[in-house]
Amino acid sequence: MSPPRALVTGGAGFLGSHLCDALLGEGYLVIAVDNLLTGRKANLQHLRHDTRFDFRELDINQPFDCGKVDYVFHFACPASPVDYMQHGIDTLKAGSLGTLHALEIARKYGAKYLISSTSECYGDPLEHPQKETYWGHVNPIGPRSVYDEAKRFSEALTMGYHRYHKVDTRIVRIFNTYGPRMQLNDGRVVPNFMKQALRGEDLTVYGDGSQTRSFCYVSDEIDGFIRLSKSDEHQPVNIGNPTEFTILECAKQVLEVTGSKSKIRNEPLPQDDPKQRCPDITKAKTLLGWEPKVDLKTGLKMSLEYFKAAAQ
Ligand SMILES: NC(=O)c1ccc[n+]([C@@H]2O[C@H](COP(=O)([O-])OP(=O)(O)OC[C@H]3O[C@@H](n4cnc5c(N)ncnc54)[C@H](O)[C@@H]3O)[C@@H](O)[C@H]2O)c1
Repeated sequence: MSPPRALVTGGAGFLGSHLCDALLGEGYLVIAVDNLLTGRKANLQHLRHDTRFDFRELDINQPFDCGKVDYVFHFACPASPVDYMQHGIDTLKAGSLGTLHALEIARKYGAKYLISSTSECYGDPLEHPQKETYWGHVNPIGPRSVYDEAKRFSEALTMGYHRYHKVDTRIVRIFNTYGPRMQLNDGRVVPNFMKQALRGEDLTVYGDGSQTRSFCYVSDEIDGFIRLSKSDEHQPVNIGNPTEFTILECAKQVLEVTGSKSKIRNEPLPQDDPKQRCPDITKAKTLLGWEPKVDLKTGLKMSLEYFKAAAQ
């Protein structure tokens, strides 16, 4: 029997490239598609001689077809605030047209489907921690809405294809994830602090730094995706690390791990910046037997060599 074939959209991105590695490890032949808007071929450099892997540069916002596949993992979408603010229309298109095209492939070939959604679906949450049953508190017209609403629409489209076209879909709501292959300048907390600490610059903390975040190391996150891909759950599942840190605590851990003498500087809070964000992972625990294993300090240490090279 020939090995199963998986399509990974956004395969040259941070999470997509790690997912390609994991799927090859699971015995898949992998086709990664990406238009390199925010991803980099360098993230897939180590796979260039692997005959089980195929990279195609294309824009999923246009209809495309890469032949029969057994699984579609839809990860293509600008994801960091810097990227989606700069590429607002592309982000809305990836959430709508791109998601439609990825779902059409799953429908055409009878493939299973998993979409990367986000904790941003919860907006600035009024419920804490956030369970999958919480519908969110999102500003539909604010600067972040190009991402938040695109992702909420992607979820609606995915459930629509599941209900009307019987596509075998899954939705993962990803919370802040960090690790090697993240872009240094993408404005997310960990790469930002790492870059500043390693370059001896001040660490910029927005507001007073008391807003909390939870950070999941990439290997834990990918493990959650693989487990969910094997399950029959069609409703969204949170995958993220529930251990909360204030932004200030995170800055201090980065200073400790890097051994940097940088100072912490406070700057005004951006509009619609969530004050708290933390997953309730009861569902992932009970349904998938999943929970994160890597704590923040260990994950920062495991990422250090990558960020050192990137910060040069
Ligand atoms: N990293 C996180 O913490 C996080 C959190 C929540 C959700 N997510 C979701 O996970 C997915 C991957 O995020 P990431 O952090 O790896 O971001 P990323 O920017 O590194 O990866 C996204 C990839 O999609 C590609 N892409 C964008 N538009 C495309 C298009 N029209 N056609 C083809 N390729 C296109 C980009 O070039 C990039 O390689 C996204 O859907 C994102 O919304 C990530």
